[in-house]
Order: sequence, then C-alpha cells, then structure tokens
Amino acid sequence: MPSAAVGRREIETHSSEETIARGREIGAGLRAPVLVLLSGDLGSGKTTLTKGIAAGAGAAREDDVTSPTFTLVHKYQGRERVYHVDLYRVGDFHDLETLGLEDIFSEHAIVIVEWPDRLKLRTNWPVVRIGLEHISEDVRRIVMEDGGESVRGSI
Ligand SMILES: Nc1ncnc2c1ncn2[C@@H]1O[C@H](COP(=O)(O)OP(=O)(O)O)[C@@H](O)[C@H]1O
Ligand SMILES: [Mg+2]
Repeated sequence: MPSAAVGRREIETHSSEETIARGREIGAGLRAPVLVLLSGDLGSGKTTLTKGIAAGAGAAREDDVTSPTFTLVHKYQGRERVYHVDLYRVGDFHDLETLGLEDIFSEHAIVIVEWPDRLKLRTNWPVVRIGLEHISEDVRRIVMEDGGESVRGSI
C-alpha cells in the first residue's frame, strides 16, 4: 500500500524536446541522495528524460548525456553528482556488488536507473519512480511517483 505522502503526477509530452524540458524541471527539484527508477519499453524516452534530469540537476549539459547501454553506468558531476545506470544488458549479474557498483549508495548522488527491474537494488534512499509509455510516434505518457520529500517543485 502506498503511503499517504506519495505524490503522483501524470503528464503527456509531444516531442523529445518537451520530455527534456520536463526532465529539467524534475532534475531542478531533486536533491541527493535520491534513487530515480525509470521504467518503460525501449524508445519510450528514458534516456531522453535523463538528459533533462541531469541538466536540471546542474550535473551535465543535456547533449553530453548519452545512453550507457554498453558501459552500464555514466557519471556526471556538477552542482549535483548524477549516476546514470542502464541495466538493459546487465545479463548474468545479480546485484550491484558483482557490477562493482556496491559503493554507489554510499555517495551523495542522484542515481538514475533504466530497467531497474533487472537487478536487486537495495537502498534506504528516497525513491522516485517514473514510468514512460509510448503513446504514438512523438507522444509519451510520463507518470511520476515519489515519497513526498525527495522532490521539490512539480512537473
Ligand atoms: N515525446 C517524446 N519524448 C521522448 N522521446 C521522444 C518523444 N517523441 C519522440 N521521441 C524519440 O523517441 C526516442 C526515445 O529514445 P530513448 O530516450 O533512448 O528511449 P529509451 O531510453 O527509453 O530506450 C528518441 O529517438 C526520441 O527522439
Ligand atoms: Mg535508454
């Protein structure tokens, strides 16, 4: 059962630029430590949204944020430290320890994870869950749920 403090916001975007702009608003409201889980099919816009989140958090320019599909993790450091993890190709790894990411939750960071269901993620950090859905060619539905304290502002 979700707690009463959980906030849920749902929006629709009509271009990748609009998704990036929404990501900027989300990123501007995030304070480390926070774990951001991005769910949705390939092409639903998880990496596009991350460009905005990292830029809004002051960690990177949006053009510098690329998919860590093969490297699994990218790190950006600015006003906030942002880790962008993509577990799509995580394969036979079972947890963050075997990936060498065991210390990630001891850092003061914003950790953004694509395909979070592929691995056990254990943390007592606040969690923001964002689901992206491909509605039509340029239209995406973005649903965001948070525990109430990890995100300031709104989308
Ligand atoms: N409204 C939108 N929001 C996000 N991406 C969009 C949108 N409309 C079209 N796109 C396109 O969809 C693709 C999304 O890719 P990407 O962000 O890499 O998805 P994922 O990381 O979920 O696999 C990009 O090519 C992007 O330009
Ligand atoms: Mg991606």
